[in-house]
Amino acid sequence: MSPGRRTFYLTTPIYYVNATPHLGHAYTTIVADAMARYRRLAGDDVWFLTGTDEHGDNIAQAAAQASVSPQAYADRISSAFREAWLGLGITNDDFIRTTEARHKTVVQAILRTLWDRGEIYLGTYGGQYCFGCERFYTEKENADGKCPDHQRPLTYIEEENYFFKMSKYQRWLTEHIEGHPEMIRPERYRNEILGFLRDPLQDLSISRPRTRLEWGIPLPFDDKYVTYVWFDALINYVSALGGPGDTRFETYWPHAQHLIGKDILKPHAVYWPCMLQAAGLPVYTRLHVHGYWTVGGQKMSKSLGNVVEPRAFIEGYGRVGNDAFRYFIMREMTFGLDADFSKDAFLGRFNADLANDLGNFVSRASTMIQNFGDGVIPTPRPAPGGPGPGEEWEFALPAALLKAKDEIAAAMDDFAFQKALAAIGEYIARLNQYVDAMHPWTLAKDTDPAARERLTGVLYMLGASLRCLGILLTPFLPDASARILAAVGETGKLGLSEARYDRLSPGGRVQKVSGLFPRLEPPTRGDARPEEGVTGKPGSRITIDEFGKVELRVAEVLAAEPVPKSKKLLKLTVSLGTEQRTVVAGIAEHYAPADLVGKRVVVVANLEPARLMGVASDGMVLAGSSGERLAVVVLDRDLPSGARVT
Ligand code: MSP
Repeated sequence: MSPGRRTFYLTTPIYYVNATPHLGHAYTTIVADAMARYRRLAGDDVWFLTGTDEHGDNIAQAAAQASVSPQAYADRISSAFREAWLGLGITNDDFIRTTEARHKTVVQAILRTLWDRGEIYLGTYGGQYCFGCERFYTEKENADGKCPDHQRPLTYIEEENYFFKMSKYQRWLTEHIEGHPEMIRPERYRNEILGFLRDPLQDLSISRPRTRLEWGIPLPFDDKYVTYVWFDALINYVSALGGPGDTRFETYWPHAQHLIGKDILKPHAVYWPCMLQAAGLPVYTRLHVHGYWTVGGQKMSKSLGNVVEPRAFIEGYGRVGNDAFRYFIMREMTFGLDADFSKDAFLGRFNADLANDLGNFVSRASTMIQNFGDGVIPTPRPAPGGPGPGEEWEFALPAALLKAKDEIAAAMDDFAFQKALAAIGEYIARLNQYVDAMHPWTLAKDTDPAARERLTGVLYMLGASLRCLGILLTPFLPDASARILAAVGETGKLGLSEARYDRLSPGGRVQKVSGLFPRLEPPTRGDARPEEGVTGKPGSRITIDEFGKVELRVAEVLAAEPVPKSKKLLKLTVSLGTEQRTVVAGIAEHYAPADLVGKRVVVVANLEPARLMGVASDGMVLAGSSGERLAVVVLDRDLPSGARVT
């Protein structure tokens, strides 16, 4: 093993098979996947587990309702989870099902050990029970006699059951959590558990009589009972590694890190460490707890009809859907806190971060290497006239990259996915600033040798930036990062240590990447009809207010190409500063595409989008004409893209 290589065992909760995968399940699974990919990128040894929780009353009831056997029901929904994760590109190393023999064997072995050690006894328990949650509620928890989750009345039941002597671990657990400040993260959840442990801890009922529930793992020492579903489920983290004694268990268990939602904090932070301690197994190292998603400000529920199903949502956005969904949920939720999901928020982040910032840079950089460098990474040489303007960027860009890498590393150590993405966002902003500051299109027109050398240097830096960005994005936007890396000729596996400015080989070919994240229109835009009477006949007068309705803006032409099968039309990709648009202009008979790239033109930015020869055009370029002659309106001095023209 190489020095500094760390080992990670990452787990998600195993999901109940009584509901199909939704946003909540997807969030936990996607962040776990991003973490697994990040750790692999850093060269670490990772084992990533997810799976399904298939026993218990709830599942038995759902199966009965569907008139199928619990096993057939579990098979169906478990496959739905497996397929959903496959569709989302989740890179789990294993998928555990609690109905598998490998799991049952380990559960029974652990129960046997606890029984032999005197950690389990037969007792009577009476109390208020919720059949939905499959658990008894204490008086404190059910002040109004209803289950707080299901809002259904609780039922008093009394039965003989087996109990795990959890109460005797109260002091040990408190001390363990206090002695391991990093064990439960973020801090607020650690405090919540320490608060909970101030009250006396009860023993845990770990069995259900088979007369009441058949669908579970029989107790090895009394087959009139099955194992309580939580006791069975938690053991998945150990059984999936083959259990104590297995090489995989010995390798990964000492590095276990569990990822869960806050709804299942108590079983993971209280029952599970006590179970492990009683069985003589080491406690996991970390528990990472995230908050809850609401949708449109409300709890996600079938009855409200607001359940977000990731596959269906993503399919609506074609190829970019998966990356965009991953990006949104990781960027929007501060890990540990609750967050709200809405289409507007999704579109906002998509357009601002992915289309305008990331997509814009990737398109600009790759297009300029195409247009000004014949699509080949040049060999940078010192400019003949000595260092020139913008030379400081040769240090500033590597410094920005280092800063991003450090911030991502710190954020990922803390499971702060939103911070890791914000750090990448800052790096992208620097890259766009670099392009704006260096004006490669101006250098390209300059015949002075010093300017040519400077252009060569800029094109090299742009190529190297694309490569570094592609590497940094790998864990978060798997598809977009692969496209960026492929564009600079990297199709193999690259590690995080490869993200450096001196690793790009001159001479390599670069492909143009346009439309990495094409801008999405908010649903309302374009619905409004144009105002009547704004365009008058030549010679007629309009008021200043009428003129004010026309939004004219400075736009830099980033790329230009002919529209297939059209003699007159050119498709222009223009930058309005914060956004990038496609504009179709009827100027092909007057301009060669290459002549337009780098020009600052004026566009009507608030025109209704239209399709011209099958190409969507979002804006209009101003041009004057007289007889056969046509001239595009350009600025006679520099103004930033997006500047208003009045
Ligand atoms: N089967 C148990 C877990 C056993 S682990 C040994 C279970 N399953 S579940 O299907 O209900 O999944 C719960 C998990 O799904 C939560 O911990 C969380 O990871 C995720 N989420 C479900 N709904 C959620 C939200 N609305 N928001 C965020 N995550 C949520 O509990």
